[in-house]
Amino acid sequence: MAQFSQKIKRIGVYTSGGDAPGMNAAIRAVVRVGIAQNLEVYGIHNGYVGMMENKIYPLQLRDMANIIQRGGTILKTGRSPEFMKPEGRAKAAQHLKENNIDALVCIGGDGSFRGANALWEEHQVPVVGVPGTIDNDIYGSDKTIGFDTAINTALEAIDRIRDTAASHDRLFIVEVMGRNSGFIASHVGLAGGAEEIFTPEGNTSVEKALDRIRDGIARGKTSSILITAEGQKPGRGYDLADAIRKKSGMDAKVSILGHQQRGGSPTAADRILASRMGAAAVDSLLKGFCNIMIGTEGERLVQVPLELVAKNERKSQLDLISLANILAT
Ligand code: F6P
Repeated sequence: MAQFSQKIKRIGVYTSGGDAPGMNAAIRAVVRVGIAQNLEVYGIHNGYVGMMENKIYPLQLRDMANIIQRGGTILKTGRSPEFMKPEGRAKAAQHLKENNIDALVCIGGDGSFRGANALWEEHQVPVVGVPGTIDNDIYGSDKTIGFDTAINTALEAIDRIRDTAASHDRLFIVEVMGRNSGFIASHVGLAGGAEEIFTPEGNTSVEKALDRIRDGIARGKTSSILITAEGQKPGRGYDLADAIRKKSGMDAKVSILGHQQRGGSPTAADRILASRMGAAAVDSLLKGFCNIMIGTEGERLVQVPLELVAKNERKSQLDLISLANILAT
């Protein structure tokens, strides 16, 4: 774990990558804990894009009023290919210097942390990461900010779809988010009673899903729901429906839940997690720790070296899918 010795007076906070419900609660905690500890806190708008464009502005206690319950991020966010290059990072580091920013809190996902790690290694900017992504796929943390809200949003939609699936005796494919990992798919699949769950990790096949559906029909089932993660590009649900039609002649309705899973008011669990993590990030910087991410191990907050977070992937739990398969009989 890296440490730095210079005294910090002014910190910057930014959100980066896909927005996640609870990011505002994390910003609020960083600002209010920072100010309580006599720090000045600056907000960097649009993530790394704003860092490279010098969109860095002071934040006050009152700027944080009425945001804990709001989805999205008041600081705005983005993904920046330019920051992935050393020249982009040099420009950003120069702006941080001009604004006397001594250290940073980065709220984002694994791509954001790779950027933060590079900023420390190349320009010695102390950074602490706070994991914010609905995908829950960050190495070193059991939970990420936004995941709980996203699965509850998706689950509400799945429950509604089950009503209509049962009324018409239909097969439905529900596509949920999740680019590289199936955390959302496996969790809502288990909680929503899905017959089969497809993750980006490739845990099952169309044949296996068809076997399950046919077994269900033999036992008297009249409707089924399959869950798929979107993977690299949205629309996997339609590909799956085509494959099912070609192999079995069965017709499947497709419902893509899309970006509604990213918005909305954060759940209590996400607000609490975000508040604790934001506060712990400031506390870590004040103690001179940097290039770490605040993660969770069960209920406990832990510090994980950003280097490890950036290098490793976190895959979803296949045991949840096995259980969902057994329970959906
Ligand atoms: O990483 C978060 C996430 O919502 C993924 O689940 C999804 O695959 C991706 O972002 C969508 O990205 P965009 O908002 O750029 O379409």
